[in-house]
Amino acid sequence: MPYVETTKGTLFYTLSRGPADSLALVLVHGAGGTRLHWPAELRRLPGATAYTLDLPGHGRSGGQGCDTIEGYTEAVAAFLHTIGIEQATVAGHSMGGAIAEMLALDFADRVAGLVLIATGARLRVAPAILEGIRSNFEGSVELITRFVWSPEVPPALTELGRQALLETGPDVLLGDFTACDRFNVMERLGEIGAPTLVIAGSADQLTPVKYTRFLTEHIPNAQSVLVEGAGHMVMLERPAEAAKAVQEFLEMFYSERVSPLTAPELRVGASR
Ligand code: COA
Repeated sequence: MPYVETTKGTLFYTLSRGPADSLALVLVHGAGGTRLHWPAELRRLPGATAYTLDLPGHGRSGGQGCDTIEGYTEAVAAFLHTIGIEQATVAGHSMGGAIAEMLALDFADRVAGLVLIATGARLRVAPAILEGIRSNFEGSVELITRFVWSPEVPPALTELGRQALLETGPDVLLGDFTACDRFNVMERLGEIGAPTLVIAGSADQLTPVKYTRFLTEHIPNAQSVLVEGAGHMVMLERPAEAAKAVQEFLEMFYSERVSPLTAPELRVGASR
């Protein structure tokens, strides 16, 4: 299991090698998460060489958590640079989606494609969550857990999620939610040139469908997949559907080495 020394600290990641000529897929988790927020179906997607990293201060990575999306974006850019990934499809969940959007805006030459899962261009956080993390960490984790998962999810999975949030600790979790609360690229989405897939859960209470629809409507080359009944943890709740959507997206742009920006099949702004 590899660690890499970057200018932003020691980062831990896992690597699943695809075919020799496969392009890189980098998976970026959300607030209070780790690489384990990604199901095996996505961490080992056939046809992609997938890098799944722990952000600074999370999981097995060193360094400090950040309280801005820009801080995390610089860490992911340092990861790409140090590993030697010239261009990748960057997939981000929730806060990781904000990081992916910022990468596509500020490090555009590094981003061949974007997969934005259960996220938005602005991620205001309910004051009750921000204040609660400071004053009643365990109570806040309960509250977040209730909002994060759809009611259909087995209790064993939500319990694992609750434990993982507790392990993150209040400082890193507060930093993550503060970073989300400060994030706003609603006016900049038109600058994103990378082809984009937006994946949403219809029952997501933290980043409602309104947010994901805004992404699809304002990113020039975007298409979306709505997973009926799924909540905010859509890729863990419905891993097969999430992996199928990403696989099809990658195939559309990369299997024939079609330039991602000129792929004729692209359904601009389409929703399916
Ligand atoms: N995409 C599209 N529209 C968005 C948006 C996004 N990413 N973020 C906000 N908006 C819209 C809102 O829907 C609202 O529209 P309206 O005026 O038509 O109702 C408007 O922009 C202003 O929204 P906001 O700044 O969020 O203020 P608010 O007073 O409506 O609500 C919160 C503030 C924090 C209570 C609310 O954002 C919320 O409940 N958020 C979800 C819970 C949460 O904490 N999520 C964590 C995400 S990591």
